[in-house]
Formats: sequence, C-alpha cells, structure tokens
Amino acid sequence: MGGTSHEREISLKTGNAILNALQEMGYKAVGIEVSFDIVKRLLDEKIDVAFIALHGRWGEDGTVQGLLELLRIPYTGSGVLASALAMNKIKTKEIFLYHGIPTPEFVIPGEEEPQELPFPPPWVVKPASEGSTIGVSIAYDKEALGEALHRARQYDRQILIERFILGKELTVGILKGEPFPIVEIVPKSGFYDYRAKYTPGMTEYIIPARIEEHKQQEVQRWSLKAYDVLGCSGCARVDLFLSNAGEIYITEVNTLPGMTETSLVPKAAAYKGISFPQLVQIILEEASLKIEGGQGEKR
Ligand SMILES: Nc1ncnc2c1ncn2[C@@H]1O[C@H](COP(=O)(O)OP(=O)(O)O)[C@@H](O)[C@H]1O
Ligand SMILES: [Mg+2]
Repeated sequence: MGGTSHEREISLKTGNAILNALQEMGYKAVGIEVSFDIVKRLLDEKIDVAFIALHGRWGEDGTVQGLLELLRIPYTGSGVLASALAMNKIKTKEIFLYHGIPTPEFVIPGEEEPQELPFPPPWVVKPASEGSTIGVSIAYDKEALGEALHRARQYDRQILIERFILGKELTVGILKGEPFPIVEIVPKSGFYDYRAKYTPGMTEYIIPARIEEHKQQEVQRWSLKAYDVLGCSGCARVDLFLSNAGEIYITEVNTLPGMTETSLVPKAAAYKGISFPQLVQIILEEASLKIEGGQGEKR
C-alpha cells in the first residue's frame, strides 16, 4: 500500500481497509508501505502472497507486478501486461478500437495547441496515465482548452482529448469474470473529480443503475469484454457512460479499484450480499503468478 504515485493517500486507505479485513479474518497479514526499499522489504518479510493495494504508477501499472513475478511471489489482480495497458488510457482505447468496443472519439494532441478538433466542445482533456481524475479537465471553449492541455501535461507527457459524453456515468466491478450490478454515479455538482470522489456526501451512488434491464445486460457484456481484451484477472472496475441517445462508451478500466469500505466495488458487492471481508477473501484466493514457464527455483 501507499507507494509513490499521486494516489498515495487513497492507496493507504484502500490498504488499511484490506489489512483490517484480513487480520479480522485471522490471516497473518502485514502492511507493507511501498517505497524505494520495496525489494528489501519484500525479501525481509518473507511473505507467501502479496495483496496489492496500490493505485496509479509504480503499482497499478505493471511495475510492482513485474517485481513480484521476478521474486515468484503470487499476487492479486491483473498481471504485468494487463496492468500496463489499462494504466494507459491511449493504449486502452487503441485496443478497444481494434476489438470494436465503443469508446469516446479522441485525439492525441501534438506539441502545438490543435487549431481544429474533429468533434465539438466540451472537450475532456486527460493525462494518459493517471487516476482519481488527477489532471483531468473539461474545456468548454478554445481558451479553456489551452489551460486544460497545460494542466494535463503537468502530469504526463502523453495526453488525450476526448469527446464529452452527455449522459449517465456508470461503473461496473468485475470479479473472476463475473460483472457486479452497475453503479450509477451522480455528482451533486460539477463532474466526478477528486473531491466528488473522496468527500463523503458529494456524490450519490445508485445501485442498480436506473437503466432498462436489456441495457443493463448490454453494459455488463461490454464491460466484461473490455476486461477480457486487456487480459485482466481478479478484480477490476470498468468506467463508462450511457449517452442520452442510449449509446454505450467505455472510457477506462481500473485494474486496482479503490477498496475502502465505501468504494464502488465493495458497494456493488454488498448489493449482491458479499460483505467487505468476503470480497477481500475472494480476491486473495485468486492471487497467482501470471507469467508461466521459465527455469530456476520456485519459492
Ligand atoms: N468522455 C467523457 N465525457 C464526459 N465526462 C468524462 C469523460 N471522460 C471522463 N469524464 C469525467 O472525468 C472523470 C475521470 O475520467 P476517467 O477517464 O475515468 O479518469 P480517471 O482515471 O482519473 O478516473 C470521470 O469519472 C468522468 O466524470
Ligand atoms: Mg475513472
């Protein structure tokens, strides 16, 4: 837990919630704060399995997964490749396009501010590899676009401009290839930014989402497909929109979704009668090494 990304604080919350649940269930669990001495810490603690509770770079992006593969320590969630792909919104969308998964139109701007865009404002400007809405802005005109590009570039060299989708914001948790009920996200004001995500009471969550039964199934099917084409495993969460015209647009896949007791996946699990400790246990039991073959010692 913890780590050195911009989402460190959220990761500590996720990590402590998981640690408490594991200890309450009687597991011999230790909290390991990830820092530059992580290799030594992992070797010193002599752990059997790693429950990854990191968000963002150096944790959700395949780097820690790669380290655990090298050390032959089974870990929860997605492997190196799926983690790396899902962390990068541009790569994710390129794979979606290849597989015919609907995703909002987008462009990758060059160094110069684009003179013309192929779709009208508002424009959603995002760093390719962040989370928690960090560096994301919605620009309503050309002037705001310049500021939004500047802001996103402070977080990443790679950025994207997406078509704004007007409609319902939805998210679908997936566990072991099974979609959870859809969560509808309704921020009380503005959009679902960092504050709306983490300040209690600033966003309303509706489970199951207020959409027709056949649409719910369609949303769950596309979400599962998004998880599959990236090669995800264990628990992940797919973010998407249902436009007012009834079209589905998948925006991203989170391979390490928030896991505090009030986060979205635990909320959806609770709706299905799965308690937080039960959810933690299911994720733990799915832990594995994902890279096969090779020679040498097995731990
Ligand atoms: N294409 C879009 N249209 C409208 N709103 C969007 C769009 N993309 C993102 N948003 C808003 O920005 C938030 C963060 O964007 P997202 O792509 O999910 O990145 P993050 O990894 O930071 O969660 C979303 O929760 C949503 O409220
Ligand atoms: Mg998101």
